[in-house]
Amino acid sequence: MEYDFSYYLKSAAYVKERINFTPEIGIVLGTGLGELANEIEDAVVIPYPEIPNFLVSTAPSHAGKLVSGKLAGRHVVCMAGRFHYYEGYSFEQLSAPVRLFKNLGVEKVILTNAAGAVNAAYQPGDVMIISDHINLMGVSPTRGRNLSEFGNRFFDVSDLYAWKLREIAKQCAEGSGLTVHEGVYHFFTGPQFETPAEIRAVRVLGADAVGMSTVPEALTAAHCGLPVLGLSLMTNMAAGMIENRPVGGGEVEETAQRVSVLFRAYVKSILTKM
Ligand code: HPA
Repeated sequence: MEYDFSYYLKSAAYVKERINFTPEIGIVLGTGLGELANEIEDAVVIPYPEIPNFLVSTAPSHAGKLVSGKLAGRHVVCMAGRFHYYEGYSFEQLSAPVRLFKNLGVEKVILTNAAGAVNAAYQPGDVMIISDHINLMGVSPTRGRNLSEFGNRFFDVSDLYAWKLREIAKQCAEGSGLTVHEGVYHFFTGPQFETPAEIRAVRVLGADAVGMSTVPEALTAAHCGLPVLGLSLMTNMAAGMIENRPVGGGEVEETAQRVSVLFRAYVKSILTKM
């Protein structure tokens, strides 16, 4: 299914009716950051199913909501609950959230996620500022007819994770109480975690972390000219990194919960500077 620009404008028009400011920063909250949405002041909460032409959640009990308001002194719009390829959406559909941000007037995007550490020097609980990504899955959110109102058919992704925003994130790392690295995020479609052989392979390719999100949103942002800050929370060592230790089993949620307070404070400190 291909949509035209007016399809996306309709979602934004509905949200604009509900909020009386132009959000400056769009945030997608990943595992471990969800509670950040509760800290937004003067919040306008819009459940996703209310937004016309938006994505409908595959898990109705976790419908998700768009929360707009003030956070760390900045006007933000926040996706509390994200959509993933493994849920059955196409990459093209996954462009909707960032296209909504763009049409609301957002100027910068923060994407957060939980990820598995591929770099042996990383530990669960560490944060990685995404310097770049690898996407060998043969997918792009801008496949199909190009919507030139958003951007060009062929677009540059060589500074996708904007250098300037990464510098701010690095400055804020000091005194955050977190161990913060900078590295490359490798996208896998999931929903299965990776095999140990896949992890060995992507380490050779230059990956420091693996995950199942962020790349669709980051590419959409690049297409419509929005600078991105990507932050990955290492919730576990990737498959095979620790001998005889399966991935999952609650570790992802446990680690996210453990560092959630520090991670949220870190994101807020970045917000004040960007
Ligand atoms: N692999 C992929 N996605 C993830 C992981 C992982 O090990 N941990 C959290 N999200």
